[in-house]
Amino acid sequence: MTNFFIDPDIRKAHTLPSKFYTDPAFFEISKEKIFARTWQFAAGTELSSTLTPVTLLPGVLDEPLLVSRGDGHARCMSNVCTHRGKVLVENACDANLIRCGYHGRRFDLDGKFLSMPEFEGVENFPSADDDLKQVPFAQQSGFCFASLDPAAPFENFIQAHRTLFESAAVSGLERTARREYEVNAHWALYCENYLEGFHIPFVHKSLNEVIDYGTYTTETFRYSSLQTALSEPLAPLLPEQGWPKAGVEGAAGGQKDVLRNSANDVAARYLFIFPNLMFNFYPWGVSVNVVRPVSPSKTIVEFLTYVSDESLLDKGAGADLHGVEMEDEAVVESVQKGIRSRFYSHGRYSPTREQGTHHFHTLIAEFMNPLSH
Ligand code: FES
Ligand SMILES: [Fe+2]
Repeated sequence: MTNFFIDPDIRKAHTLPSKFYTDPAFFEISKEKIFARTWQFAAGTELSSTLTPVTLLPGVLDEPLLVSRGDGHARCMSNVCTHRGKVLVENACDANLIRCGYHGRRFDLDGKFLSMPEFEGVENFPSADDDLKQVPFAQQSGFCFASLDPAAPFENFIQAHRTLFESAAVSGLERTARREYEVNAHWALYCENYLEGFHIPFVHKSLNEVIDYGTYTTETFRYSSLQTALSEPLAPLLPEQGWPKAGVEGAAGGQKDVLRNSANDVAARYLFIFPNLMFNFYPWGVSVNVVRPVSPSKTIVEFLTYVSDESLLDKGAGADLHGVEMEDEAVVESVQKGIRSRFYSHGRYSPTREQGTHHFHTLIAEFMNPLSH
């Protein structure tokens, strides 16, 4: 069994070996070792019924779950009947108990077994095994997460980012769009491209015009990383809202600092929650990307758009997400072809621009290695 190793010192480290992406065995192993052990996106702000069926990470985990909001607080449980295994709730609905449509077993909204016809005389029945299994579940500003077997509590994954969600949701977030992109590349190649702004000047010409590449930062946390892009001072997001004019007041910080308005200076914050969730915070709201592996060479990326201020939708770094996505897909698909080369096995990192990718590879190695987790 391979042990992946990423040197913690980025200056010494080599990137993940290409066999991680090309060998189908690692793809299969990652389902249980990475995806079952991390927090997955279960639902967004649109959760409104008492009972909502959710398939956790379709195609990878394929776990039928049920989010129940019985007495006001939401919980998550198995959506599979403990009798013979029928899926219990197929469509979101309002109800005050759950009754299996196969042989009539009933559960309360917390998943506790209530009754079963024709079971008189059955020994040791009912037992705890007849209740629906509870699944670790967490909510943040209307977004719901579940994990089948979490390596760490949700708190450790969301950590310092709560305020980011809270301020984005302060005036309400409404889901306005959902679309899927099919990318001909390994899921990790898609993620690691997202995790660095290094390629922006080379790949995203238009995006590069509205963000300030010089001040782009990447911060890493235990299971997440955050990239912050400030708006290009000469292309403010909201010129009509109190931006000082060029050349006014030659402050000590230089003209750039004079021009930047503290209320509008963040063009985008890109939050990555390991291994496959991207929350992109723009002045207009949040774009959520859920990366769903399909095969070692195919990935579906779900784009969910949650808007708080429609008037800002076509401004700044969050204006042309489709165009940026097309540019990203082209390079990621090119890397997918390149990593199969006999002449490529791994590369090195830029210590100033690829901290997010290095951090991601370190976590992959940590989760994949036989003795960890
Ligand atoms: S499978 Fe649910 S009652 Fe039989
Ligand atoms: Fe990109």
